[in-house]
Amino acid sequence: MPREGWGSNLHTETRMWLDPANPQLNKNGELHHLLSLEGLPAGVLRQILDTAESFVGVTQREVKKVPLLRGKAVFNLFFEASTRTRTTFEIAAKRLSADVINLAINVSSQSKGETVLDTVANLAAMQADMFIVRHAASGAPYLIAKHVAPDIHVINAGDGRHSHPTQGLLDMYTIRHYKGDFTKLRVAIVGDILHSRVARSQIHALTTLGCPEIRVIGPKTLLPADVGRLGVQVYGDMREGLKDVDVVMMLRLQNERMNGALLPSAQEFYKYYGLTEDKLALAKADAIVLHPGPMNRGVEIDSSVADGKQSVILPQVTFGIAVRMAVMSILAGN
Ligand code: CP
Repeated sequence: MPREGWGSNLHTETRMWLDPANPQLNKNGELHHLLSLEGLPAGVLRQILDTAESFVGVTQREVKKVPLLRGKAVFNLFFEASTRTRTTFEIAAKRLSADVINLAINVSSQSKGETVLDTVANLAAMQADMFIVRHAASGAPYLIAKHVAPDIHVINAGDGRHSHPTQGLLDMYTIRHYKGDFTKLRVAIVGDILHSRVARSQIHALTTLGCPEIRVIGPKTLLPADVGRLGVQVYGDMREGLKDVDVVMMLRLQNERMNGALLPSAQEFYKYYGLTEDKLALAKADAIVLHPGPMNRGVEIDSSVADGKQSVILPQVTFGIAVRMAVMSILAGN
């Protein structure tokens, strides 16, 4: 049977069953799509983190599978490159016993001019249950979510410079794992804030979870004009900004999203904003270092720090599996 929900209401602005103020929640306040962390209540964020904690046990068993998504079809639609997000979504869906389909965009009919919405409509006709979407255009997952049938869920796997909600969640999981209560933490986010969907998701999540002091550190050219509106403290001097922080979250320079030269050179950036051992020594002695990857060693982070004892960069990746399992199982109603 073809699904209802496409065709006639292709341009429906807000779906009846979704909260018009936050169209990723249904009218009972439950997660229906995961599009952004902005506006998600603390209870929903905690539900995801707690559920992920229960899945960490599953990922450590010899048989790393549970049947929560058995019979469901999860489509990975990555219109932009990815190593960690695409792979961990695939592993997570397989551990939930779903059927996983990775659409190879470069050899798909997109190359013949098919639109994203037509591609999604055709995959929906193959009885998709969930779409994981990464796209260079901010808002692409929202557009897809607006057009799919009510029983299909959409997860944003990173859209333009807008949002990367599962990265923000796995970062929160990692911080909570190592540091506990968010309400006692001082957190620094360093680097290319302007182009970073990760930074936006981190700031929304940290704020919602009650982190009292969020510092953003970077050159003026890589800070959003409205950074003050985000309720963060802004530092141009990395050495000042790192003083006594509990958590250092490094960001990649998003060269692919920069229009024109915003930096004199990568070497100059490294000198002032690269995380080196001497700069990290200004943070608390037990501070942890996160990076969403991919890392540019010697540009935003020194190898001795990336591979050092305070780095939790690889545990972030591992926790990403449990966090993505949690998001998919909650969306599927488990
Ligand atoms: N952190 C992150 O989104 O990495 P990938 O681009 O490899 O998915």
